[in-house]
Amino acid sequence: MKILTKNMHVPNLREIGVYESLGGYQGLRKSLRDCKPNDIIEIVKKSGLRGRGGAGFPTGVKWGFVPKNTGKPIYLCVNADESEPGTFKDRLVIEKDPHLLLEGTIISAYALDCHLAFIYIRGEFSYGATVLEKAIEEAYSKGYLGKNILGSGYDLDLILHRGAGAYICGEETALLESLEGKRGHPRLKPPFPAVVGLYRCPTVINNVETLANVPHIINNGPEWYAAIGVERNTGTRLYAVSGHVNKPGVYELPMTVTLRELIYDHCGGIRNGRRLKAVIPGGSSVPILTADRVDTRMDYDSVAKAGSMLGSAGVVVMDESTCMVKAVRRITRFYAEESCGQCTQCREGTEWLYQILTRIEHGRGRAGELEILLDLCTQMKGRTICPLSDAAAMPVESYIKSFYDEFAAHITQQRCVILPAA
Ligand SMILES: Cc1cc2nc3c(=O)[nH]c(=O)nc-3n(C[C@H](O)[C@H](O)[C@H](O)COP(=O)(O)O)c2cc1C
Repeated sequence: MKILTKNMHVPNLREIGVYESLGGYQGLRKSLRDCKPNDIIEIVKKSGLRGRGGAGFPTGVKWGFVPKNTGKPIYLCVNADESEPGTFKDRLVIEKDPHLLLEGTIISAYALDCHLAFIYIRGEFSYGATVLEKAIEEAYSKGYLGKNILGSGYDLDLILHRGAGAYICGEETALLESLEGKRGHPRLKPPFPAVVGLYRCPTVINNVETLANVPHIINNGPEWYAAIGVERNTGTRLYAVSGHVNKPGVYELPMTVTLRELIYDHCGGIRNGRRLKAVIPGGSSVPILTADRVDTRMDYDSVAKAGSMLGSAGVVVMDESTCMVKAVRRITRFYAEESCGQCTQCREGTEWLYQILTRIEHGRGRAGELEILLDLCTQMKGRTICPLSDAAAMPVESYIKSFYDEFAAHITQQRCVILPAA
């Protein structure tokens, strides 16, 4: 069952003519011809589509929060920042099927009564930015963007904005600050961006994969979409699988797939016939799952029940040769470098976690330091402006709790206790 990737094998899909020949922009035509903006919101609600950026919030419900008739413009921002380590699925859509993203964005903007939309793309995606720039130009020249789109009377402009390469700018309010030309410092919530967003106007921020689903929902109907997957977890997901599997890559599958099926049936199993040790199921910021959770279904609710989060569906597979101290120290280094520095827990906490983990990894850990790490994590979670602090603390806490003996042995034996890979 492929939805978003079904045409990706077609040569020159990036060109608007090829995209149109495969039924592209029919969803937009149908929306403008047959639907009022509110109808589209209702269709998306009925489809059960949940955000693919991390939190999994129902998309139609979020759109419904936008106040209408306030006299202020409404903005839509596409979050193409994709900076969470282990996540590389939005990039595929951007580079291979840019018009799918544009069509989804235009339909969604129409639903929101938005006349100016932005795509915020991470600075490192320079190829993706070039692809999108060309696609936007093509869409303007064919009348899918600009004034009086397809003779409907609806106007929309779309601006591609390149970030400077900061992880925090993927957080929606930091993204808005950055778009406004300021440092990417997250804002306090509430108020939520749906009410007070870009330039203090109502704003919706959606992930690339989320919006790429919209044309398919319009074309095939919400019932069709809702029938894929399971209740509350409808549609497919783009699972970006990396690490110790034989065939890493992006796999589009319904959310009925289990971790075992994903690793062994789709990704060709663990490399060199080794045993599975652990899996990050949704990007580096989520708690780790141990190998005994391999039969977990890869939907939002089942992964949460197993003690983690589906997040961005960036799946990192670790085999038995992985040192968990080294793995989490490396992840922590990322968060320490990417903390925006605005709040103390995150600015200091991420660096303290990193320093202690580095000592333990290098055989200089001291008795009691695991308890200090766990206490630090408690102080860093749920207590500050944005979830980057949580994103750094959650892995450390879960790696220590899941592999306590391994961490403790690093301290008592003053060395790594995992044999290096052959
Ligand atoms: C530190 C941090 C980084 C984030 N990075 C991204 C990102 O790169 N891409 C993304 O779509 N969402 C990211 N998010 C989630 C966004 O804040 C937001 O929830 C999402 O874009 C909403 O889109 P959705 O409802 O379609 O999922 C991040 C959140 C946090 C806290």
